[in-house]
Amino acid sequence: MAHSLKKIKRFSAIVLAAGKGVRMKSVQAKVLTSLCGKTLLDTVVDNLLKVKSLSEIVIVLNKTLLGLSKDLKSKSKRINIAIQARSLGTADAVKAGIGKISKKNTDVFVIGADIVLLKLNTIGKLIKFHTQNNNAVSLLSAFFDSPEGYGRIVRNKSGSVERITEEIDLSLDEKEIREINSGVYCFKRECLESALKHIKLRKNKNEYYLTDAIELLASEGIGALAAESADEILGINSFCDLVNVRKIMSKRIINTLLDNGVKILDPATTYIEVDAVIGPDTIIYPFTYIETGTKIGKNCSIGPFARLRKGVQLADNVTVGNFIELSRSRIGKGTLIKHFGYIGDARIGEKVNVGAGSVTANFDGVNKNLTKIEQGAFIGCDTVLIAPVKIGKNAVTGAGSVVTKRHNVPAGSLALGVPARLVNKKKNKS
Ligand code: UD1
Ligand code: CA
Repeated sequence: MAHSLKKIKRFSAIVLAAGKGVRMKSVQAKVLTSLCGKTLLDTVVDNLLKVKSLSEIVIVLNKTLLGLSKDLKSKSKRINIAIQARSLGTADAVKAGIGKISKKNTDVFVIGADIVLLKLNTIGKLIKFHTQNNNAVSLLSAFFDSPEGYGRIVRNKSGSVERITEEIDLSLDEKEIREINSGVYCFKRECLESALKHIKLRKNKNEYYLTDAIELLASEGIGALAAESADEILGINSFCDLVNVRKIMSKRIINTLLDNGVKILDPATTYIEVDAVIGPDTIIYPFTYIETGTKIGKNCSIGPFARLRKGVQLADNVTVGNFIELSRSRIGKGTLIKHFGYIGDARIGEKVNVGAGSVTANFDGVNKNLTKIEQGAFIGCDTVLIAPVKIGKNAVTGAGSVVTKRHNVPAGSLALGVPARLVNKKKNKS
């Protein structure tokens, strides 16, 4: 026994992402659903990549998801792809995955691609629990007041795990069980391989259940580790589940930003996606939506009712006020864009004032074009800038001007009217 405990374990991971996701009632594959700016699959895979003890990660896709292979593989050399030919259940998916696993590895971590809130600490604990107890299978479990939809952990009189029963197969007594299967496991590879050979097709669902491996391995040592918080193991089967999980994820994102000194006044009405970088002392007013990848400097003021889309970068001390949409734009230090407007594909310098209602007309029906506004420029209320166009340093546009394509306004000049004409040169001559 002492020897077997010391045996070095090497873990592979299998991510199950080949299911049909019928309960989402969507033509889009479930694992491609976006959660706070990232797909469910990317969320799970990026999380697992942070677990160093998982030396390889095999992602099981179905044929329609094959196109994802290149992007997934480019994340890391540790990633490999397996294909499940038909969605015949979780055991069948694991069977497809295990074929790709290195024979050097002794143990397998298995997770569904719809379990997105699991913390790294919990993954580490499950791996440690599995290793220290030398289990054939270690399950991550939880206790739910409303366990509907989850497999229930059935224990015998002495308290050992006997099997898992899926919702549709529950007896009346089993419906009372609150201990559920999270769908996250560690298996000894050889035990898993042997169990997979014996799992039978469940005719009522036309699926092979991975959970049937538990009963088959019951005599070889099964452990269940309860997750610290039930939130962590929520699966996403329906859009309603997604809404629930999004709330928890959003809270985590916002709490991290609050801890870093970002002043988010009302987390309940503020939507910030993953991987948005926001500097301290920036104040975010209610009803603001900030997309993934956005970079916001220190001491900025955003909202209320602002939308910052992908590719937006704000330097320090920028104000983006109410009813402003920004997209793929970089805004320089101290610039003010305070009242309703659209700025897309723009490069705006420092200390620019963009007046109320100003719009960059970036899309000509075919291409997205760039607008440049240099340092110190003053864009009068209701200016329309038809891109590509440039407003030079300290230049001014009058209220209501429409600056047409390539009619750049030179530094220090004033442009007025529809279409806008330069007026300051004339002025100087007279
Ligand atoms: C599964 C478990 C259930 C557990 C729950 C936790 C089984 C039979 N049941 O149920 O005990 O409480 O997870 O969330 O395992 N998949 C494939 N190929 C398939 C079928 C599914 O790759 O043929 C993938 C799915 O894409 C998904 C994962 O496996 O990511 C789990 O499948 P899902 O249908 O969501 O299982 P649950 O019904 O939630
Ligand atoms: Ca699920």
